[in-house]
Amino acid sequence: MKPLLPSVLALLLVTTGLAQAQAVRRDAAGFPAPDRPVAEIVSPIWASEEERDEVKETEQVFSAAGIKPGQTVADIGAGSGYYVVRLSPAVGPAGRVYAEDIMPDYLAGLKARVARMNLANVTLVQGTADDPKLPKAALDAAFLIHMYHEIEQPYGLLHRLAGSFKPGGRLIITDLDRRPENHGTPPALLRCELAAVGYRELSRKTLTGGVGYIAIFEPPAPGRLPAPQTIMPCKG
Ligand SMILES: C[S@@+](CC[C@H](N)C(=O)[O-])C[C@H]1O[C@@H](n2cnc3c(N)ncnc32)[C@H](O)[C@@H]1O
Repeated sequence: MKPLLPSVLALLLVTTGLAQAQAVRRDAAGFPAPDRPVAEIVSPIWASEEERDEVKETEQVFSAAGIKPGQTVADIGAGSGYYVVRLSPAVGPAGRVYAEDIMPDYLAGLKARVARMNLANVTLVQGTADDPKLPKAALDAAFLIHMYHEIEQPYGLLHRLAGSFKPGGRLIITDLDRRPENHGTPPALLRCELAAVGYRELSRKTLTGGVGYIAIFEPPAPGRLPAPQTIMPCKG
């Protein structure tokens, strides 16, 4: 006679797995909702420009990211443009900065700032919470600065962003090591969510001056992206 216990155990495992898969909330494209709080959008800037300049925030970030003249970069969640107006001279006339946000009024303010400063290498992009709507195979680097915790659909956004990198392109994320509801992202949670979409963490270090950490990721190669329905959300 066949022992009963292994088949009961197998059935239990299958039903638990099915129940877990069914419990995951997914959007129409099949991407899971994040299994953690998402911070509210409250401001187009993380901290005052004076305070950030004082601690040399962009110098630290650009040096870690290896930003050079001629590169094409994207600032996702550009807000009032603290990074945009500093990235523009850093990549120079042969480079380009895609300044993206989902808030039309923030983008309108940024458009006026870019026009006032006559920044000819900046292109403004209106994205959505799950799609930054950036050109394909264009980017040497994409920046998510103090905004990851506000992304309502991180899995969809990261998945759609992956096709926008050139070979060797990098995703650069700066955030505070705090719970998302307190406007930060614990590094282990960030690594888990990025890995779920195929991004690999290459380095992470703490920035000086209370700016938080910078984490640099290699995006998944085309054809190595997981199907949306197979992505399981990280618990955070
Ligand atoms: C705290 S502000 C930071 C702005 C700027 N990066 C900085 O460092 O000052 C967060 C920005 O992210 C934007 N944001 C939130 N969710 C977004 C998403 N899914 N895609 C693009 N931008 C988003 C907000 O509209 C806001 O402008």
